[in-house]
Amino acid sequence: MLITSILRVILTRSFKPFSFEGAFESHLDYADLKNLGLYVHIPFCHSICSFCPYCKVLYDRDLAAKYKEALLSEIKLVGNMNDGKKCVTSLYFGGGTPVLMLDDLKEIIDVIKEYFIIKGGIGVELHPDDINEAVLDVLKSAGVTMVSVGIQSFNYNCLSVLGRKYRDFTGEMDIVRAAEFDVVDVDLIFAIPWQTSESLKNDIENAFSHGATQVSTYPFIDFTFADNKYKPMSEKSKKYLLAQITEFARESGKQRTSVWTYSQKGTSKYSSVTRDNFLGFGVSATTLLQDQFKINTFSIDAYIDRITNDILPTSLTLHFSQRQRACYYLFWNCYSMQIDPKVFEKMIGKPLAKMYGFELWVGELFGLLNFEGDVYKLTDKGAYYYHYIEQVYTMKYIDKMWNISRKQAFPKKITLK
Ligand SMILES: C[S@@+](CC[C@H](N)C(=O)[O-])C[C@H]1O[C@@H](n2cnc3c(N)ncnc32)[C@H](O)[C@@H]1O
Ligand code: SF4
Repeated sequence: MLITSILRVILTRSFKPFSFEGAFESHLDYADLKNLGLYVHIPFCHSICSFCPYCKVLYDRDLAAKYKEALLSEIKLVGNMNDGKKCVTSLYFGGGTPVLMLDDLKEIIDVIKEYFIIKGGIGVELHPDDINEAVLDVLKSAGVTMVSVGIQSFNYNCLSVLGRKYRDFTGEMDIVRAAEFDVVDVDLIFAIPWQTSESLKNDIENAFSHGATQVSTYPFIDFTFADNKYKPMSEKSKKYLLAQITEFARESGKQRTSVWTYSQKGTSKYSSVTRDNFLGFGVSATTLLQDQFKINTFSIDAYIDRITNDILPTSLTLHFSQRQRACYYLFWNCYSMQIDPKVFEKMIGKPLAKMYGFELWVGELFGLLNFEGDVYKLTDKGAYYYHYIEQVYTMKYIDKMWNISRKQAFPKKITLK
């Protein structure tokens, strides 16, 4: 875990940790931001999966009704901070299981459209159990253009190890395909104990042959607060499987669009995280602006209470230094395997070569990235190291933040070193 501290000190040129304060600004300044995305969190599930770290509770009709009202109020509160309608790149619904509020999604989208003009598409995460023609019809008529299906695996043993009930979901995928969304992502998990590279390749093949335009393969992570019966495979096995996935996807003509995603050529991406800036609504939703990163409370009751009093439900805020903001930007661009120096300079206000000339030189020297055309591209070797470091950061930063936020609605301070 020392590696995260060393990298932080080198890349931010400072010993200052990332410090989240239990305070917030009541005005969010997003009027002039380019490439702004929207995210809405729906924290309800039919049942709770032992491996899942996200903020969610079992579905309760009365609570969901109150939550919807609070969500609409938060959208209005934040929407009114800007005069006129603000253009945004996209709108994503994640969870939890957004379809548990199916009848409310159209209303939520309509309220969002009173304040924002959605230029790109609208995406929704789907649990495979919820897929049928009627549900997809409602999503389509609400304007949804992208879906992400949490299949995790088509394999009986893998799902059992994850603690999920097995069903052959290829039929559900065919229903999704028939609905003709612009983007169909399938989430898979790899490095599930006893998973073989053959069954993983089968999963990828199944996803694409049943209509996926993109497959996301996430390494199984054992969060400290999860309830996993079986632990993920070793990092050595993860390394081997990631190489197998990459080779298999490439051989079958797919494009690697990020460290953990592969796409049908010529299709758009499903990606709720790789935005330059975003506004998040709902419990646990994060907001990234030019100078701050903020996270909403994880407590549904506290969220409703704050919003009812016209107060932002922010629990923690990090005010970025220029280098911290640059690091955040680079982290997610490395995930997309591409850094554009011109965009970097526009966003951060300083040339990339001036801020990180040495790191770029080292990266090229060790074969982690190449300068191609006008951009730096991560090599497969670079992608592997990113995959490794992303998991270490997840355990050291996200696990810590979420673990505290699950227990305390408004923590005083969280320091990430
Ligand atoms: C918000 S979740 C799931 C959405 C949807 N409710 C479902 O279950 O299908 C998004 C994705 O994160 C991935 N994920 C969740 N927990 C994980 C873990 N412990 N390790 C790796 N990936 C995980 C899964 O692939 C999941 O589909
Ligand atoms: S994986 Fe999906 S269904 Fe399972 S608990 Fe997480 S959000 Fe809910």
